[in-house]
Amino acid sequence: MTTLMKNGSGKRNVAIGNVQYWEKTKLGINGHTDNAIFCITVYDHHTIRIQVSNEGSFSPNPYAVVMEPKNTSFEIDETSDAVQLKTDTMIIELNLHPFCLTFKTLEGKIINQDDSAFAVSWLGTEVTNYKKIQKDEKFVGLGEKTGNLNRFGKAYTNWNTDYFAYGVNDDPLYLSVPFYIGLHNNLSYGIFFDNTHKTVFNFGASNNRFIYYSAESGDMDYYFFHDENVSKIIEAYTNLTGKMAMPPLWSLGFQQCRYSYYPESEVLTLADNFRNKNMPADVIYLDIHHMDKYKVFTFDGEKFPDPKSMIQKLKEKGFRVVVIMDPGIKTDKGYAPFDEGKEKNLFVTYPDGEIYEAQVWPGWCAFPDFTKPEARTWWAEKMEYYREAGVDGYWTDMNEPASWGQFTPNLIDFHYEGEHVSHRKARNVYGMQMARSAMEGSLLQNPKERPFILTRSGFSGIQRFAAAWTGDNVSSDEHMLAGIRLVNSLGLSGISFAGYDVGGFAGEPSKSLYARWISIAAFAPLFRAHSMINTADSEPWAFGEEVEEISRNYMKLRYKLLPTIYSAFHASCLTGLPVAKSLAIDYPHDNLVFDSAFQNQYTFCDTLLVAPVESYKEITKVYLPKGDWYYLFDSKSYHGNQVIYQDCPTSYLPVFVKAGSFLALQSDISHSGEKNDGILRLHFYFGYEDSTYCHYEDDGISHSYTKGDYFKRKISWIGNEKKIVFDTPMGNFESGFKKIKLYIHGKHPEEILLNEEKLFIEKEDVAFLGKLTDFDPLPEHSHPYHVAKNIPFVIIPHREKAFEIQFL
Ligand code: NOJ
Repeated sequence: MTTLMKNGSGKRNVAIGNVQYWEKTKLGINGHTDNAIFCITVYDHHTIRIQVSNEGSFSPNPYAVVMEPKNTSFEIDETSDAVQLKTDTMIIELNLHPFCLTFKTLEGKIINQDDSAFAVSWLGTEVTNYKKIQKDEKFVGLGEKTGNLNRFGKAYTNWNTDYFAYGVNDDPLYLSVPFYIGLHNNLSYGIFFDNTHKTVFNFGASNNRFIYYSAESGDMDYYFFHDENVSKIIEAYTNLTGKMAMPPLWSLGFQQCRYSYYPESEVLTLADNFRNKNMPADVIYLDIHHMDKYKVFTFDGEKFPDPKSMIQKLKEKGFRVVVIMDPGIKTDKGYAPFDEGKEKNLFVTYPDGEIYEAQVWPGWCAFPDFTKPEARTWWAEKMEYYREAGVDGYWTDMNEPASWGQFTPNLIDFHYEGEHVSHRKARNVYGMQMARSAMEGSLLQNPKERPFILTRSGFSGIQRFAAAWTGDNVSSDEHMLAGIRLVNSLGLSGISFAGYDVGGFAGEPSKSLYARWISIAAFAPLFRAHSMINTADSEPWAFGEEVEEISRNYMKLRYKLLPTIYSAFHASCLTGLPVAKSLAIDYPHDNLVFDSAFQNQYTFCDTLLVAPVESYKEITKVYLPKGDWYYLFDSKSYHGNQVIYQDCPTSYLPVFVKAGSFLALQSDISHSGEKNDGILRLHFYFGYEDSTYCHYEDDGISHSYTKGDYFKRKISWIGNEKKIVFDTPMGNFESGFKKIKLYIHGKHPEEILLNEEKLFIEKEDVAFLGKLTDFDPLPEHSHPYHVAKNIPFVIIPHREKAFEIQFL
């Protein structure tokens, strides 16, 4: 093997050069060029790893990827200047002189191609992969990134950053996912650049020749995904980086936060208010004022003299408590977490061994090195303090890690699973490893229950450990819409369980802004309201009677929809596909999806099309993609593939239901632990396309679903036979529903048969929102009360066996 040329002086670009040697291996191809070694590994028929290094060996990447290469068959073909590797799904062509990769479909269409001159190049330690821009190519994903759905023409940096009140175009934010999806010519592919250094993704900003991704240092180590559609690419990416585990049901309810609720009496009154005002809710957060001088693993004895009994009282009212944990540990001698961490050598240090200190809420702090397994375990053990008090969930904040002044010196040392690296390589995974430790701590302290961890910072794979929220947003319409795009983009990037602070963290929302925000968030995976210190009250009843009524309506709708939402989470755990799906997933080659007027739209639980709209608009344009659609609130039907104008007074968010699909609702409940009336309201929306809804239930809290204690039933619509097929349920869990009340929207069948037997058809008006009753609506907010009139329904007693419903 030749002596590898090092990075060069860094003054000019050094490209990878000609392939000098290559060989076929069990998993792909290995070789070297003039300037680097390379390795092509087939992970799966749709997932190929490309590694290039000019260091003589490849460095391990211990955090994001959890999958080993599968034993996948592939063929190698050789010509004088190229080698082709072919799987069942794609062809990778390696041009030898110089090294240049082209990814093709089996029919030979180009999916993606290196820039032939630069391919992989170095400028000093900075390594870059240059890719040709394909005709009309669009780019989506890249996790928590602001800007348009289509990222073409913009560049982004991955460097986890604490950013208070960020602007809607600012970058970088708190969490990095170096994974994007490219779309062109009816083709789609994904690229995940597994390098934890600061990385830049340039989607054609300031040049018309290429797009590129580069890292400050380390290997060019990326995974290329191609399959027949975007969903399969996200599935492949989450096979590689992991899927979320089923969260506890309570975490899908409404969550109320504030910086900070205290003292104890305020927290208890807050809980009572939700119950007295008949507004369903599940979670109350304790932000940093719960602590004594902001010291993690303490309670402030004056504000919270008896946290255990307070939390017990909250539990009796059906609330769970989530507590904030910041990584910074006050460097106070005599404060056990500091003394222990120091003694056990668990803190981040300077290269000379001195503990690194920076300022956060408690003053000068040391930072546990969460990239060290012992530090994660120690933290997990320390969480006994909170569990002892009855805490159920954990909120890992400030874990970029944040410190006043932001500029963490790059020389500090991190363990990085034994590799011992500087801040440059460790920063982007620090927050994820803290969340991991919190998840392990939750499991250690409360092994019978599923953890709920909410994190601000993270990296690819964070979905295995925590839900994410989009940090310190601002009370404005543009922020509300930007947050929706952030959550949709997180969903495109493997992070399904995500949300934003309803009402905006910084600033104070107007009445109509709060009302609109909470209505939209009822259709977000994470449904959480939060606001900053020294701002006006911002609970859902703090904005007057009308907003209270609107909030109650949407909060109740969220709880009624929980059977659908829980089933969608179950599906998401299996596939890695998001619960809030950007339209770019199912309609990737429809240009209108990327239009600035429609780019915020998404489907929720695969059935509902949500069209977010500013708070001040009374009418809006909505794009209905192909298929047929029903307006949720009165079941009016529309053909798809058209733009419609929809009234949207503050009380009515434009939400549509896909024709041919199902929505499963339960009766009103005040929190997720309360029993419903045992009747599943299954709404079917007549359409000609087939569909399947997989209804899922389990106990909502324990791990026993992993051992078969679940109830799962496939319910399919077969359009051309006008038939609904209920499969035999799977699993050992008994459904909580004794009856199904099946509503048929969009069609009034003359007869309905259950396995040939005639059912008695009744009719009922269906209202998804309660009426706004107790006040005279202001003229500008006036609206008709939307009801779907005379909807036929039949009652079906619960059946253990498969059965069919036929419309005549
Ligand atoms: C920053 C977080 O983003 C915010 O949500 C929290 O309230 C404050 N830290 C105080 O803990």
